[in-house]
Amino acid sequence: MMEKINAVITGVGGYVPDYVLTNEELSRMVDTNDEWIMTRIGVKERRILNEEGLGTSYLARKAAKQLMQKTNSDPDSIDCVIVATTTPDYHFPSTASILCDKLGLKNAYAFDLQAACSGFLYAMETAASMIQSGRHKKIIIVGADKMSSMVNYSDRATCPIFGDGAAACMVEATTEEYGIIDSILRTDGKGLPFLHMKAGGSVCPPSYFTIDNKMHYLYQEGRTVFKYAVSNMSDVTEEIAQRHGLHKDNIDWIVPHQANLRIIDAVASRLEVPLSKVMVNIQRYGNTSAGTLPLCLWDYEKQLKKGDNIIFTAFGAGFTWGASYVKWGYDGDKI
Ligand SMILES: CC(C)(COP(=O)(O)OP(=O)(O)OC[C@H]1O[C@@H](n2cnc3c(N)ncnc32)[C@H](O)[C@@H]1OP(=O)(O)O)[C@@H](O)C(=O)NCCC(=O)NCCS
Repeated sequence: MMEKINAVITGVGGYVPDYVLTNEELSRMVDTNDEWIMTRIGVKERRILNEEGLGTSYLARKAAKQLMQKTNSDPDSIDCVIVATTTPDYHFPSTASILCDKLGLKNAYAFDLQAACSGFLYAMETAASMIQSGRHKKIIIVGADKMSSMVNYSDRATCPIFGDGAAACMVEATTEEYGIIDSILRTDGKGLPFLHMKAGGSVCPPSYFTIDNKMHYLYQEGRTVFKYAVSNMSDVTEEIAQRHGLHKDNIDWIVPHQANLRIIDAVASRLEVPLSKVMVNIQRYGNTSAGTLPLCLWDYEKQLKKGDNIIFTAFGAGFTWGASYVKWGYDGDKI
């Protein structure tokens, strides 16, 4: 019988731009303050890519280059690149295609994956299935978003939440019992009224009208999104834990989407997992959309050990959401 192929993460690279947008600075732009933002959201500062002419592929390229170095990867060995993003450089061509050029990949094909803030989770499962099929050996998955390109910095209800950033993981074939073990992913399409960009797509292409009416910004009804995020993320996290006999004593880490510290608290407390086992960096980066999960790995990589039981969970526009169970494949930081 053929040995079962698993898909394991073999490295992490990340990048956040240098410019730090603090709550202090935001409170000079809109009517808000550090206390409100910290208690309602939990973000202290976020990074902004403010150099003109640079888009999401710049963030993705920095993250992926570091990943290639850390994993000592030959560009010719990469089969595929998947970029999860909601803020692509262009409508077309894909940001992933731009990345292929920047990384000098000759043997890869590449595509963008659009699942809003759940994008990285979907990319992880997609790459895992591609590798388990036996048809791919080595895939780069990237979560990258330049959220500042669609945030309205005169809307105090949304501008404190988001930031720019990217991180990438190498996913490779292994016959060891490690890697991306299982996922529960869902999409219901019920979220459209509550979280979207009104214009710029094929329903409502750009025009003077759409510009004048500020229709090219992220629109969100925060309270509704909050409720769905808590219940959907908690439900799937609990479901995947039960399916694999995971509980507060044998879960090593939870990696939650970084949208709101109160959402993270609620998801962790449903599983009774203490916050010390929950990756949190929202205070420094805010919500980088598809970037949040791999940026957590990037920040916590040093603390990870081979065999750690990790549950990832995310929620985003659509609505899209899910949870994945990963058995981590190596010890500590790879330099
Ligand atoms: C956006 C969010 C932080 C708002 O928090 P909230 O507790 O729901 O706050 P509300 O929108 O109900 O607003 C409460 C009050 O604070 C005010 N407020 C909103 N933003 C503010 C700000 N930045 N500073 C000060 N006050 C603010 C509102 O105007 C409102 O005032 P009112 O009661 O006088 O009308 C929260 O709803 C949230 O995190 N939602 C989920 C967002 C998310 O996860 N999105 C990404 C999904 S991928």
